[in-house]
Amino acid sequence: MLFTLITGASMGIGEAFAREFARRGHNLVLVARSGDRMQTLAEEFRRQRGVEVKVCVEDLCDAQSPARIYEFCRRQRADIDMLVNCAGLSRAGDFDDIPLEKLEQVMMVNMMAMARLTRLFLPDMVARRGGSIINVASLGALQGVSGLGLYSATKAFVVTLSEALYGELKGKGIKVIAVCPGFINTGFFERAGHNRANLRLPMSETGVVVKAAIKGLKKNSVRVFPTLIDRVLVFSQRLVSRKIVIWLAGFIAAVKDR
Ligand SMILES: NC(=O)c1ccc[n+]([C@@H]2O[C@H](COP(=O)([O-])OP(=O)(O)OC[C@H]3O[C@@H](n4cnc5c(N)ncnc54)[C@H](OP(=O)(O)O)[C@@H]3O)[C@@H](O)[C@H]2O)c1
Repeated sequence: MLFTLITGASMGIGEAFAREFARRGHNLVLVARSGDRMQTLAEEFRRQRGVEVKVCVEDLCDAQSPARIYEFCRRQRADIDMLVNCAGLSRAGDFDDIPLEKLEQVMMVNMMAMARLTRLFLPDMVARRGGSIINVASLGALQGVSGLGLYSATKAFVVTLSEALYGELKGKGIKVIAVCPGFINTGFFERAGHNRANLRLPMSETGVVVKAAIKGLKKNSVRVFPTLIDRVLVFSQRLVSRKIVIWLAGFIAAVKDR
């Protein structure tokens, strides 16, 4: 039976993906650390949408977790037709202030888990000649952001890998998309120690990310920027020097203005 696997499904943007795909009748595998939250969502989706939902509690900082998730799906006979790599975290502050442990965590979840899960599930999609991969990146991926250097670099990895996969998988029936949101109203900022009151752009709701990703998949886009402001910012990068791009990104994120 075909399933959609969503990492980071316990809250925020991942939860919004789970809600929308449940509404569309997808069977789901939900992955995150917060088991109780996911069980509550799973019960709601089973009851209200009549879909099958499996909950897989894993900490993606653990290098073995992607292999366990893959095994979990095999045991549950859940064939993953769509993979949504949404789990992610950030840490606000200058690079030389980031605790080494946090540096590891951000890189493990944002890059390693995303790459490992994709590597594990892709051969089955190729064998079936069908599937979709949604990678949640960030507008921050398009340049280094002062105060968010590590985070923006990990998201650049996500975009770059997605683009390469898009090229490799063309003609094999598998779609790959990198979604690059700006600021979205979730608990992400508090968790990262990033004061959202300082941000110099408005926040959008999680639904805009999900809508943009689904529309982008339909159009077979490789990168999508959910809001008009996101698209204007991306376009403006063509008109100014790289130094201005970097300054502007740091100004907008305003990590240091506490
Ligand atoms: N919010 C924004 O403005 C924004 C903008 C651009 C891109 N993004 C990206 O969007 C994605 C979702 O962000 P969000 O705003 O929804 O953040 P969020 O509300 O903090 O949710 C993050 C999700 O990732 C999961 N997660 C974090 N660490 C994990 C770990 N070690 N193991 C397993 N799961 C883990 C969390 O689940 P548990 O805590 O239950 O494990 C949670 O479900 C991230 O990749 C983020 O970088 C966010």
